[in-house]
Amino acid sequence: MINNNGLIHLYHNAVDISKAAGDFIKRNASESLKIDYKGRANMVTQIDKQSEQLIRDAISERYPEHQILGEESADKATDSQVKWIVDPVDGTTNFVHNHHMVAVSIGIAIDDEMMIGVVNCPFLNEIFTAIKNQGAYLNGRKIQVSTVNSMENGLFGTGFPYELNDHFYKNMEIFKKIYENSQGVRRGGSAAIDMCYTACGRFDGFWEFDLNPWDIAAGSLIIQEAGGQICNFSGQAFDLYDGEVLATNRNLQKPMLKMINEIL
Ligand code: IPD
Ligand code: CA
Ligand code: CA
Repeated sequence: MINNNGLIHLYHNAVDISKAAGDFIKRNASESLKIDYKGRANMVTQIDKQSEQLIRDAISERYPEHQILGEESADKATDSQVKWIVDPVDGTTNFVHNHHMVAVSIGIAIDDEMMIGVVNCPFLNEIFTAIKNQGAYLNGRKIQVSTVNSMENGLFGTGFPYELNDHFYKNMEIFKKIYENSQGVRRGGSAAIDMCYTACGRFDGFWEFDLNPWDIAAGSLIIQEAGGQICNFSGQAFDLYDGEVLATNRNLQKPMLKMINEIL
């Protein structure tokens, strides 16, 4: 069992580690990048790998027994009830193009329940944080989802899979539908940031197919702690390992589900 003091200790360590990784990314942004391709447009650079190594080393040094699930290397599976879920660079395409929507995303689950979320945006000097049942914060100030209650007054975020698969084309149609019925749709290039932008009211909703747990672990807690709601495209309970995410300010969950399902 981890008590509240233990949770706060974990939280401070997660924030420190996300800052160390963010500083590393920023310091090395002008390095010449070695780019490998995981798919058509799915890039990984040495900075993604080194950022993950830095995070893994820092976690293992402080909590040698904890589990780690990260994008760039094999799982560290142990008997621990604590699992760190890490995206060392969310927004790699942006990073490669010197576009600053880039984040380090660190979520901590205890017995499979998200308890801590940290999304550090090093180029934007913004850090979003949450502890289960203790609210969500941006640079230490409490945040809340928006109160917008009609699609026509909303601004939305989404993202597209790297592969030009069925979900890509379906999402193009959903994009069009939501765009036609709202004030706009943005494609920021970092799912972790998109979720935090929904949490702090810059977006009124966000949806995406085919996301990985490291993209959304931290953001899923931050949005809920900011008063938002998260589910899959059938309106059922959000599952970190299921890929589908609809995150809203609550008011717009129903109309967004309706529009998405008119296409699916
Ligand atoms: C990607 C970003 C992007 C989303 C992709 C993700 P990566 O993560 O979050 O916004 O649309 O689905 O894979 O590859 O930059 O870590
Ligand atoms: Ca990612
Ligand atoms: Ca990544």
